[in-house]
Amino acid sequence: MPFKSETDSEVLVQLVEYIMQSNGLEVLEALQVALQQVIGAYAIVILDREHPDTLICARKSSPLVIGLGADGDYHIASDALPIAAYTSQAVYLDDNDIAILRYGQPLQVVNIQNEAQHPKIKQIDRTLGDISKGDYPFFMLKEIFEQPDCLRDCMRGRVLSDDDTISLSAVADYRKQLTEASRILIVACGTSWHAGLIGKQLIERFCRIPVEVEYASEFRYRDPVILPGDVVIAISQSGETADTLAAAELARSKGALVFGICNAVGSSISRQTHTGIYIHVGPEIGVASTKAFTGQVTVLSMLALCLAHERKTISEADYHELVGELRRIPAKMETALQTNELIRQLAPVFTYARNCLYLGRGYNYPVALEGALKLKEISYIHAEGYPAAEMKHGPIALIDSEMPVFVIATRETLLDKLRSNIQEVKARGGRITALTTVGDNSIRRYADHVIELPDTHECFQPLIASVPLQLLAYHIAVSKGLDVDYPRNLAKSVTVE
Ligand code: G6P
Repeated sequence: MPFKSETDSEVLVQLVEYIMQSNGLEVLEALQVALQQVIGAYAIVILDREHPDTLICARKSSPLVIGLGADGDYHIASDALPIAAYTSQAVYLDDNDIAILRYGQPLQVVNIQNEAQHPKIKQIDRTLGDISKGDYPFFMLKEIFEQPDCLRDCMRGRVLSDDDTISLSAVADYRKQLTEASRILIVACGTSWHAGLIGKQLIERFCRIPVEVEYASEFRYRDPVILPGDVVIAISQSGETADTLAAAELARSKGALVFGICNAVGSSISRQTHTGIYIHVGPEIGVASTKAFTGQVTVLSMLALCLAHERKTISEADYHELVGELRRIPAKMETALQTNELIRQLAPVFTYARNCLYLGRGYNYPVALEGALKLKEISYIHAEGYPAAEMKHGPIALIDSEMPVFVIATRETLLDKLRSNIQEVKARGGRITALTTVGDNSIRRYADHVIELPDTHECFQPLIASVPLQLLAYHIAVSKGLDVDYPRNLAKSVTVE
């Protein structure tokens, strides 16, 4: 049969029709035959014009959720968010399942071998149905400002204020495998990968377990070595990123304990993992991730401290002190958000930049990467994040008075060394904007602009320092008149490779 289209979904429809006509089959039977032949991921809905009262849906490796309306109506989407306003009940199809939807009639599910399936009905999170920008011009700004409350939600019932301890059911349920893990592999994409880099530092420092962080897209195709005792952590806001899902499935098939850190409840990754922790920051609409990032870092902080305590690789005093400090982070984030007006005024200065450099060290190195990514995503200005000491091995050649350099220079072990890196930039005419800890005036003389942030333990600095960088990207993009929530060429959830 000749191909009539280069679009895979159109080819599939042609194939189903061809099988119907050449074998005298109904659409459901023909679809079952067709899906046994196709390779790859799909989530499809078919309407046969001869049976306009019936929809047939099928999925494999791509998400598909069916909302069950109260009046016999059905709602189909790739995640629960868009259907939450219409129903609170949903069915998530499994791979190779086909659902037959007839208005007013019960849902029927079979697999591609035509065996009846009985999927469970899940409750949709009620808060999903109530999404608006409120008084904010963009979802992204709302989500940036929501972060202190989101982190409180994320820690609720997990960080216990009575005795400054952490209680995580995932750790209780899989205590032995987690505490005895010989290695932890973190797989993720985009912003979630940056959270993973911070997680690596937290887990290695406090738990003394070696951690590797990989792009899920690379991990899945390089036949990775997975050893007995390995734990794989898959981080994903949406829980639907195709590469992260495939990496988690691969790790699971090779015998690793797979641990999910997701935001979207009931998402594919959260269902594919053995256990995990939801970040519970509520739906994130802005394509550029903000509150999900700080939620992921908060979960990783809780996980690292909880595991370290179980493994006795942290002293009791340090453990309680750090848990107490983690509890204070949302309030400190509120202080960090007060830099908004200063950053709004500063932003137009950078509107015409063609390139920007973000520098940080230690825990703040991933913050530099994330700050650069935010700027790229929504302002379309090229930006690079670099570990500050690496700058002399290349990027220093780029520095001149045209090149804004953002340095995360908050109080930390390596601050003295970072100060030398700042001097190197200054000596070459670079224009420096520094994030500093309030009360530290040692950077001021080198910087053109200073943004002061509240003090915290260096391991929690990313939760504070990422806030002004999110605001900076936001205000630069707004100054350029861009659509902050829906930047060109980007998708919120990348369900294809
Ligand atoms: C897309 C989004 C990014 C996100 C990445 C990973 O590229 O635009 O903001 O960081 O996917 O998404 P995930 O849902 O897996 O965290």
